[in-house]
Amino acid sequence: EEFFAGNTDFSGKKVMITMGPTQEALDPVRYISNHSSGKMGLALADAFLSRGADVFVISGPISLKVNKDAFHWKNVRSAKEMYDAASAIHDQMDICVFAAAVADYAPAEIAPEKIKKSDASLSISLVKNVDIAASLGAKKKQNQVHVGFALETENEAKNAQLKLSKKNFDVIVLNSMKDSGAGFQLDTNKVHIFHASGLSIQSDVAPKKQIADLILDQIKNIPVWV
Ligand code: CTP
Ligand code: CA
Repeated sequence: EEFFAGNTDFSGKKVMITMGPTQEALDPVRYISNHSSGKMGLALADAFLSRGADVFVISGPISLKVNKDAFHWKNVRSAKEMYDAASAIHDQMDICVFAAAVADYAPAEIAPEKIKKSDASLSISLVKNVDIAASLGAKKKQNQVHVGFALETENEAKNAQLKLSKKNFDVIVLNSMKDSGAGFQLDTNKVHIFHASGLSIQSDVAPKKQIADLILDQIKNIPVWV
């Protein structure tokens, strides 16, 4: 319990955060996924909580230690499950942060039994998953703020800005792959934040907690609040 609440500049705000990876089942024992740890998403959830917001977390499978009681917490596995959970509450949210590393594709069919080893090679047919941020972005209301993330390995700034407009984000946070100290499993990160207004700001390599507070400060700069 916090006796000294400190800065509660987000009190009264309902915030949804998608985080972690998704897992796309192949058969009862296998799935396709990625290396997202959920650390950045959780750092954001913690930052919003300590700054007074009502925080709704929709998390893919993670192995972090979390006090889930402090949040409205929903565990999901697949992109489809994450989408269903997010669309169910989107309407009531003031701020939506799309920090999940959603699998872009899922197996076209989930085999009902464990797939047996047979030939020397195996092809799996994949179908594109729903784009959660883009779908909800198309329904975004005047007073809602959407924040996205991007991870690029080339044309970083340009690609991030394209995603910003394509998905109707107000802000996109570009994770820097190239800089040491930034990445999936680490406790530090380095980001470049782009606003729809054209404004942008770059951070140093810093603990994810500090990066989270910087992102919240940037969200406060969005004209929707004034
Ligand atoms: N995102 C999402 N649903 C998806 C894919 C992505 O909500 N099915 C969100 C992510 O949470 C992130 C943003 O969209 O906030 C950008 O994700 P990213 O994977 O970088 O972009 P994609 O559009 O999937 O493009 P690509 O992976 O081809 O670069
Ligand atoms: Ca993707």
